Amino acid sequence: MNVNAGSMTATYPQPSEDQADNSALLQSLSAAPAALEVSVNGHGPSPLALDRSNLYAPLSINSASVLILYGTVTGNSEMLASRLAKRLHLKGLTARVCDMAHCEPSILALVNYVLVIASTYGDGEPPEDAAPFWDAVVRGNDLDLSGVRFSVLALGNTTYDHFCKCGRDFDAALERHGAARFYPRVDCDADYDAVAAAWMDGVLGHFQRQSFAASA
Ligand SMILES: Cc1cc2nc3c(=O)[nH]c(=O)nc-3n(C[C@H](O)[C@H](O)[C@H](O)COP(=O)(O)O)c2cc1C
Repeated sequence: MNVNAGSMTATYPQPSEDQADNSALLQSLSAAPAALEVSVNGHGPSPLALDRSNLYAPLSINSASVLILYGTVTGNSEMLASRLAKRLHLKGLTARVCDMAHCEPSILALVNYVLVIASTYGDGEPPEDAAPFWDAVVRGNDLDLSGVRFSVLALGNTTYDHFCKCGRDFDAALERHGAARFYPRVDCDADYDAVAAAWMDGVLGHFQRQSFAASA
């Protein structure tokens, strides 16, 4: 397991907790690009996803919104994204699962937490469908993600020269755009199950600590 020496000790702004902040965020999400599509378990836009009132569950930890973004070719990242969403749901936290092939980069600025799960292909390239999103985030300069917290799970294979490069690119780019890494990036080799589960444990642990802190 490769764990990036990320900014585990950084301090982060607290997510908005009051209804006013929630309303503002919901309004901005209402104004989100029409191209925004949210898929649940990879079955395309769902009725639930289109009901923006569901972006917050009453029991959401700190009323934060969590976006799980995946980029995939053969479905591993999508399956892990779905698994993470289910684990978060069991903790009472609403998470949206979105294929970055169908997302506008501006969605990143509309949420409190971004969890990226992405594989690498070709000569260290992103999955083909995710390339426009990757390009905008990794090469672009017009995103302001201050206040956003993120963590990345990178899928790859050490037999390739550019191991997990797509995930590493996202990890560096999100930080460059001002987002705060709340849990270090984890890079997965071919046998990714245990390593991915450990990353999810870490992400869930963070949310649990946030929840306890908020209720203390
Ligand atoms: C044609 C091909 C090219 C790949 N290129 C890379 C690569 O450059 N770097 C890397 O780390 N992994 C590479 N991989 C491994 C995949 O990223 C890995 O199998 C991953 O689990 C696939 O996840 P996905 O199903 O979400 O797309 C490649 C796999 C294939 C089939």
